[in-house]
Amino acid sequence: MNTSSPLDCPAWKKLEAHADTWRAARLAELLAGDPGRARQMVAAAPGVELDYSRQRVGALTLRLLARLAAERGFEEWREALFSGKKINTTEDRAVTHTALRASPVKFKPVDPKYTRVINLGTGGSDLGPRLLADAFGDGKRDVRFVANIDPVERERAVAGAQADSTLVVVVSKTFSTQETLENAKALKSAGFRNFIAVTANAKAAEQFGASEILPMPESVGGRYSVWSAAGFAGLLAIGGEAFAEFVSGGREMDEHFLQEPVESNVPALMALLGAWNVNFLGLGALAVLPYAHRLRLLPAYLQQLEMESNGKSVDRGERTVGYATCPVVFGAEGTPAQHAFMQLLHQGPQPVAADFIDCSVNEALSANARAQADALAYGTSEAELPPHRRHPGNRPSSILKFRQFTPRDLGRLLALYEHKVFTQGVLWNINSFDQWGVELGKQLANRILKGVA
Ligand code: F6P
Repeated sequence: MNTSSPLDCPAWKKLEAHADTWRAARLAELLAGDPGRARQMVAAAPGVELDYSRQRVGALTLRLLARLAAERGFEEWREALFSGKKINTTEDRAVTHTALRASPVKFKPVDPKYTRVINLGTGGSDLGPRLLADAFGDGKRDVRFVANIDPVERERAVAGAQADSTLVVVVSKTFSTQETLENAKALKSAGFRNFIAVTANAKAAEQFGASEILPMPESVGGRYSVWSAAGFAGLLAIGGEAFAEFVSGGREMDEHFLQEPVESNVPALMALLGAWNVNFLGLGALAVLPYAHRLRLLPAYLQQLEMESNGKSVDRGERTVGYATCPVVFGAEGTPAQHAFMQLLHQGPQPVAADFIDCSVNEALSANARAQADALAYGTSEAELPPHRRHPGNRPSSILKFRQFTPRDLGRLLALYEHKVFTQGVLWNINSFDQWGVELGKQLANRILKGVA
């Protein structure tokens, strides 16, 4: 498997030279000068179409990017992921979140007496089920989430809850995370008795006194775990059928990712376009803008997925990389984002790339998503405008256009981004499946709490 530096790839060097010709190119002229561009620069995956005509790329760029993927050994790495090879080398583990979609976990029904569910977990043990519940919660149960060690969140989640009719789901792969364990102990002291633990550390969960343990595989990282029992509170919020749809959507995206050649493979294309923006055009940030209130928590979910996976500067050979890796990812739902931070994207001096996610909720939302992408690409052309009213344009973005947005589409979308992140890890020669950068802060906080620092 290729673990060399991408800097040694002939395609990388060609892309560097090629980027020089792109610095002066104007998207407005490209789009106006080639009416076929908008038709050609699209790729389809189940339920969704990627329009990348507003990216600062041409046919040669795409060929070179595809060549880079080949030189990085993309197909071999992809095969290694799906066949369960130990590609998480620093933790000596395989990476098996896609297997959870091929053979979904079966859950036992939950007693209807539980009208309140409280999920205790943080990071990947929180963001996925919270997103599912917020996006598609059917309101049949009151499902709440507590991630912070700040008691305010916990107090709000338990307000009005009765111990008998409340199920507490403690989700922690390690069962050693300070915030989650403190919250679990606090609920126990407050008289709550019905605890289910979702963990890979059954022993610690037994010691805590969980009445039931749902296993979480060691080989599934927190940020990839929503498909596992870690998604249980999400399932309780949206119902078993919708959860099964969600998982099948993920599986459909796996098939697409496995079968499509790079040129028409939506996750791989998004990864390559992202790397082009970061490494060759120098764009260090990516805004994710879902045009659906259901997806208001998606940016937080993707921040962990992208930045905890690829925010690294040591490669698979323990060498310091000599190139940029994961951009800063941020975002918010559209349209509210337009009235908050989009000013910077339109007129700030540091260009930011953007992913618009059009969920076809209604015409107004779709029109606004398209308008923002056009404004970023074309800018203003009227020479008579005073400088403060001009938009420079030439700012790249993609539009992911869903035909509709169901739990199945959410599964497709999350798996799409997972595979994008995986592909970028391959391009950057990074292990996307560990997270050593979070350890030091945990240790220091413990020392400070014990009064030894
Ligand atoms: O601190 C980072 C992290 O380890 C994430 O990777 C993980 O999703 C989260 O904390 C929660 O970890 P756990 O499920 O072990 O409590």
